[in-house]
Amino acid sequence: MAKLIFLKDKKTVGTILYRSFVGILTIIKIMSTNKTLTMIKPTAYKNNCAGKIIEKIYEGGFHIAAMKLTKLSKEDAQKFYEVHAGRPFYDELVDFMSSGPIIAAVLEKENAVEEYRNLIGATNPAEAADGTIRKMCGTNIGENAVHGSDSDENAEIESNFFFSGRERY
Ligand code: GTP
Ligand code: MG
Repeated sequence: MAKLIFLKDKKTVGTILYRSFVGILTIIKIMSTNKTLTMIKPTAYKNNCAGKIIEKIYEGGFHIAAMKLTKLSKEDAQKFYEVHAGRPFYDELVDFMSSGPIIAAVLEKENAVEEYRNLIGATNPAEAADGTIRKMCGTNIGENAVHGSDSDENAEIESNFFFSGRERY
């Protein structure tokens, strides 16, 4: 009898562990691959390109989970782009990104980081493929219309930079 209960407990524990494992994997998958952070940069906003960019985002099959019109202070821009600190264009980038209003948004889609980077095109608008956002709205390599996260980890960090949980839908 005791042996039977023990066996049953072992099976129950096994089932719980298995289900927890599957649950954790599902949560990691949801957290890690479906989100990216974009900013419509100051020149694109100023040139009234935001509407066209948002249309492209919808056409690309993304869900807009959060969005706001805001302006970065110099300190905000320094912090957001701190991975580029020390690179020759860093000061120019910080000055530009804090020069006027931007639109920040969290976009959701499977494989969002890569999919969105495909949609925005190469860093330099002159080298961006036809039909991409940077080709359509970019001015030059510094004023290249939009930002897109470069990894799932940074998408998470950058989304938290702009939005609280209550601002996401
Ligand atoms: P983001 O999506 O904005 O991060 O662009 P990216 O990932 O395509 O490029 P990267 O992260 O290497 O550079 C960040 C930003 O710095 C770019 O979007 C540009 O605005 C700017 N940048 C990169 N290289 C240059 C450069 O050679 N000159 C200037 N002026 N700006 C640059
Ligand atoms: Mg980048």
